[in-house]
Amino acid sequence: MPLILGISGSPRKGATEYAVKTALEAAKTVEGIETEYWSVHQKKIGFCIHCDRCIREKSFCYQDDGVRELENLIVKADGIIVGSPVYDMNITAQLAACFNRLRPMFIVQPSGLRHKIGGAIAVGGTRHGGQEFTLAAINNFFIMNEMHVVGGPGGCYNGGKIWSKDAKVQGAQEDTVGMNTVRALGLAVAEATIITSIGRAAFQEKYTSRLEPVRDH
Ligand SMILES: Cc1cc2nc3c(=O)[nH]c(=O)nc-3n(C[C@H](O)[C@H](O)[C@H](O)COP(=O)(O)O)c2cc1C
Repeated sequence: MPLILGISGSPRKGATEYAVKTALEAAKTVEGIETEYWSVHQKKIGFCIHCDRCIREKSFCYQDDGVRELENLIVKADGIIVGSPVYDMNITAQLAACFNRLRPMFIVQPSGLRHKIGGAIAVGGTRHGGQEFTLAAINNFFIMNEMHVVGGPGGCYNGGKIWSKDAKVQGAQEDTVGMNTVRALGLAVAEATIITSIGRAAFQEKYTSRLEPVRDH
């Protein structure tokens, strides 16, 4: 069964958790979709210190902390929905640290995320507080990992966008237009995940991928 992993980059249980869980609920209405949820909330998350040990040892990061759980979940997911609060017009430091720590994905699981689906949600306290930049940061993570980005059906553009007025769950709930983009995104990610799951299996049966990483050093 295709699995969609929902990730919240908020250090608290607030609007982002609500938005990501709502997107997962919408995704689950598509037959055959299973979901799991993971949050940075109360997790110990160390920074990448660029020691390159992961590269040398061809392994995930030596730091045995909250990210370990995420490493295991992400490799088995067929689709990923990542939500982040907008912090200084960008993703949170916790989420950025998770993305950095997933750097060895390309060695541990070469092309492990290739042709999988990603969808992004940004939750800002202000109506136009940097949601677009936050979505771009998340979508770039998907692109970098050879995934296909889904922004949602027409009107969603590049993902789900919430204006929470800094009021946690209630703020998100009151942004009815924003919550519609979140539900639509969840559904779009689910449909695309079904399509690419079938497509990946069919491709592997008939073809061998000729894609190789391009290195300049
Ligand atoms: C350090 C920090 C920086 C923030 N920067 C922004 C910002 O640049 N733009 C914005 O719209 N909201 C900003 N906010 C507000 C949060 O994005 C907003 O309250 C969000 O809904 C929090 O999500 P949560 O309830 O899931 O934690 C900031 C909040 C914090 C704590």
